[in-house]
Order: sequence, then C-alpha cells, then structure tokens
Amino acid sequence: MIALASDHGGFAYKEKTKALLDSLGLAWKDYGTDSEDSVDYPDFSHAAAIAITSGACERGIFFCGTGIGISLAANRHAGIRAASCQVPDAARMSRLHNDANVLALGQRLIDWETAEAMIRLWLETPFEGGRHERRIAKIEIDA
Ligand code: RB5
Repeated sequence: MIALASDHGGFAYKEKTKALLDSLGLAWKDYGTDSEDSVDYPDFSHAAAIAITSGACERGIFFCGTGIGISLAANRHAGIRAASCQVPDAARMSRLHNDANVLALGQRLIDWETAEAMIRLWLETPFEGGRHERRIAKIEIDA
C-alpha cells in the first residue's frame, strides 16, 4: 500500500499520481489534503508518515509546492527516510543508496512529465544494500 499526501501546493500532482498508480496496478491510500484550499503541509505529512511507521503502508509519495516542507515533517518520524528530489537521478539514487521510503516532489518546481518519470523510476528501483545498510542504520539517533 502506498501512502499519498500533499498540501494544496501539491494537490494536483497527488491526484494525478492516483491514476498513475492505478495504471500500474499499485494500491494507494490518500491521507489528504482533499482540495486546493490552503492547508498546513505537516498535518498531512505526519498522518501519512504514521501510516508507514505503523505498517499500514509500505512507502509513500508526498507532494507540496517544493517537496521540502512535506519531507522535513516526514523525516521527524523514526524510520522514515523521505527524499525530496528534483531530478530523476536523485529519485533513483534515493532508492539505490538511501532506501528512501518516501519520495517527496514539488509541484511548483517540476513539470508533471518529469514527476511521473521520477515516480516510475523510484517505484521500480531496488535498494542496493551492502555498505549502504550500515550507513542507513546510522541515520537514526537516540534523542
Ligand atoms: C505552500 O505555499 C508551500 O509553502 C508548501 O507547499 C511547500 O512548498 C513548503 O515547503
């Protein structure tokens, strides 16, 4: 199950992503927002991040105007590795080396064709493992 989340600035791409995932036969759950009315991105990022850390969803694709705010909020959750990406190779590398479980995209920064290419790439790219396992383990810190 893929958790979807956005604020108003990423709402249109979140809706387009539903159709893309449907065409790929991938299940999704929408954690909001539900319109282009102005909202606060942490509210939706936290809800979808909790869906992932609780095991209800395996990974997530989040959107805001830049992809920055919604990823910052998600990354406050232990176990979330949200990658804010602007180019396809970043999306690919976020899987290969970082085992990113959230892809964060900025609707105001990239056109939909690029976003779609990044989502496809991110979904199909496996984690490389090996030495990257050790590095990922060092991301989490005890507060
Ligand atoms: C909302 O105007 C905008 O600040 C938000 O979508 C996002 O870009 C924040 O990082």
